[in-house]
Amino acid sequence: MTDNAPILFFDSGVGGLSVVAPTRVLLPQAPIVYAADSAGFPYGTRSEAEIAARVPALLGRLVERYRPRLVVIACNTASTIALAAVRAALDVAVVGTVPAIKPAAAMSRSRVIGVLGTAATVRQPYVDDLTARFASDCTVLRYGSAALVEIAEAKLAGAAPDPAALARELDGLFAQPGGAKIDVIVNACTHFPLLEPEMAALVPAGVRFVDGGPGIARRIVHLTDGQTWPARAEDVLVFTRLGEAERRLATALDFARVEAL
Ligand code: DGL
Repeated sequence: MTDNAPILFFDSGVGGLSVVAPTRVLLPQAPIVYAADSAGFPYGTRSEAEIAARVPALLGRLVERYRPRLVVIACNTASTIALAAVRAALDVAVVGTVPAIKPAAAMSRSRVIGVLGTAATVRQPYVDDLTARFASDCTVLRYGSAALVEIAEAKLAGAAPDPAALARELDGLFAQPGGAKIDVIVNACTHFPLLEPEMAALVPAGVRFVDGGPGIARRIVHLTDGQTWPARAEDVLVFTRLGEAERRLATALDFARVEAL
C-alpha cells in the first residue's frame, strides 16, 4: 500500500461529512476521498432491494478507481442494509455506521431514548437487535425523517434551516406516547449531526444527542495504526452525478478536486 492510498468515505449525500469531521481531527494527514451517490440520493425513501443492489456495485467501482486503504460507509441506511454484502464483495477493510443505541443507553437516565433516522433505517431488524442487546430496559422510540435529510443538504449548500420545519420533525419523536421523557436522541442518520446545533436549541433542556461519528473516527485510527501518511494530502470529492447542484455544493465544501464517477 502506498502512503497516498486514501480513506474512502461513502454516503448518499453530504451526511458522511459528519463522520469525516471527527476523523480529520484525529488523522489530519489522511488523504480522503468522499463519495456522494447524488444520482441515487435520497436513500432513506428507497426499498431494501434497491439499496442492497446499488451500494455494493458502486463501492466496487469506487474501490477499483481510488484503491483506498479503508472504506467507511458513512451512512446508516446503507450500512444497516448492505454492510455484510459490501464486506463480502470487497477485499479491503470496511467500517460501517450503525445507530448509536449502545452509547445512548449508557447515557440515558429516564430510560427513554429517541432514535431519529431515515424511514429505511428505523424499520431495520438491525435496530431491533441493537435495542434488544444494549437497551432492553429502555423504551426506544423511533422516527424516520426524509425532511431532515433535505434540510441538512440545503444547510451545507448555504440555506439556513427553518426552525419550524426542524421542530415538526422533532415532534415525530416527542409527540409519541412516552416521548416527553426522552433524554437522549440518537442521530441515526449521518446527515442529522449536521443539524445538531439547530436541533439542540429546540429540544427540552437536558436532552442530549449522540451519533456514531466519534466512535467511527477512533475505529479508523485503530485500523490504520502503524500505517504511514503522505506529507500533503489532496482530498477528492466524487459524485455519481455531477450537475449544477453538485458543483454549487462542491464550492461550499473544502476539497481540492471534484470528480464524477
Ligand atoms: N446519510 C444517510 C444515512 O445515514 C441517508 C440519507 C438519505 O439519503 O436518505 O442514513
